[in-house]
Amino acid sequence: MSDSSPHREYQVPPFEPVLLANIAKPDSHTLAVYEAGGGYRALRKVLAEMQPSAFVELVKSSNLRGRGGAGFPTGLKWTFLPKDHPGPIYMCINADESEPGTFNNRLLMEEDPHQVIEGVILSCYATRAQTAYVYLRYEYPLCLERMQAAIDECYAAGLLGKNILGSEFSLDIYMHRGAAAYICGEETGLIESLEGKRAWPRIKPPFPAVEGVFHKPTVVNNIETVACVTHIAARGADWFKSIGVPADPKNPRDPGSYGPKLYCLSGHVNKPGCYEAPLGITCRQLIDEYGGGVWKGRKAKAAIPGGISMGLLTEAEFDTPLDFAGPGRVGCLGLGTAAVVVLDETVSIVDFLHNSCRFFQHESCGQCTPCREGTRWALEMLERIKAGKGRLKDLELLLEIGDSIGIIPGTTICGLADGAAWPIKNAIRKFRAEFEEYIKRTNPQGYAVTHAVPALAAAH
Ligand SMILES: Cc1cc2nc3c(=O)[nH]c(=O)nc-3n(C[C@H](O)[C@H](O)[C@H](O)COP(=O)(O)O)c2cc1C
Ligand code: SF4
Repeated sequence: MSDSSPHREYQVPPFEPVLLANIAKPDSHTLAVYEAGGGYRALRKVLAEMQPSAFVELVKSSNLRGRGGAGFPTGLKWTFLPKDHPGPIYMCINADESEPGTFNNRLLMEEDPHQVIEGVILSCYATRAQTAYVYLRYEYPLCLERMQAAIDECYAAGLLGKNILGSEFSLDIYMHRGAAAYICGEETGLIESLEGKRAWPRIKPPFPAVEGVFHKPTVVNNIETVACVTHIAARGADWFKSIGVPADPKNPRDPGSYGPKLYCLSGHVNKPGCYEAPLGITCRQLIDEYGGGVWKGRKAKAAIPGGISMGLLTEAEFDTPLDFAGPGRVGCLGLGTAAVVVLDETVSIVDFLHNSCRFFQHESCGQCTPCREGTRWALEMLERIKAGKGRLKDLELLLEIGDSIGIIPGTTICGLADGAAWPIKNAIRKFRAEFEEYIKRTNPQGYAVTHAVPALAAAH
């Protein structure tokens, strides 16, 4: 792969996909095909040769970071469980996958469910969890079918249930269909929903490791995270660390971005899809070399770097590496789910932001005033601008909302508000001229007025 960008910090090494290695095989979702390709060998080895604590250390030393959005180190999260707890300890596998543009979990569950289940069993062995719940996005019926069939095969083969493969370790896995809302993917919203309640995120602390499902210690991990655990068990921590971007020695808060990653690519590209690559490929490489470039011979205007909640990259920022640190360096929230959505030159950023504000206003659970009111006000202002009643000072008001809601300013319970804020901040700060031109063109007489303008709803 070429390296013409000043932002590139390392050369992408030759790479053998592992997460998607099985999916092109006929009947890739069955136990027979999975085992024929070496599946469950890693589990057999770990159960026979490693204590749970040693396996936790292995995952810690691999520097695996969670693939669900926040990039938290997985092994470290497992060590937060109380020592010598009498149990039960629960594992929740987050398969809610509600971040717009994200579909890597779906692919894994539909096409290679045993790879996921092996990772769940290994992760439960490490954490001493004897019950795992897979909290599945409601709109994924084929995932439910394939995962349940794979779980049933495992019970029949002694890979689940009492004394797995003759060991002391026992585990039950339950599929739990989600409640079809974005907030169900937030880990404590997920826990509330799993308990049969409305998915209102909990104030933290206590964190789930201390008090999670049914008030018991709980680990929440993403589907792709546990799939990585399977390969770390099979190939070792050094293999995992040989892929990706090393830690920045000048930044003690950067633990590096290691391992393979599933990148979801959609929007205005020739070949949308889910691609496996080493962490750290650039957005431009993903679009051009994997996605076949922008569709219809057009140019790109922008891209969402990792789900809509991460904000926006301008075309000039496409050489940004898609690792955990890269998008943050150009003012985005982070890598998120590594779901890249391309917007071509014909897309109106005003429309993009309107859409984004509609989404977050609809999905806010309403517990926190800054999120509930901020997302509502932002949407109303975007509707006013779109209706030709915008004022230039609306842009300042929108930025004020964007800068003052979310966990990062410390005003809300969960990160949904940050997700709502970043598209606002990025769209207006990076495409301000387009907003100003739109307001002046659609409201030529009144764009500079300073007195109050009724919100759109009142104007109708
Ligand atoms: C609003 C919101 C929605 C989220 N949705 C998901 C989701 O659909 N899937 C997911 O794995 N993580 C989601 N997360 C992140 C989870 O809270 C949590 O960090 C993650 O499941 C932990 O798994 P990991 O450490 O393996 O990444 C969401 C977070 C927020 C704030
Ligand atoms: S930040 Fe928003 S979504 Fe999260 S708990 Fe508060 S109101 Fe609910």
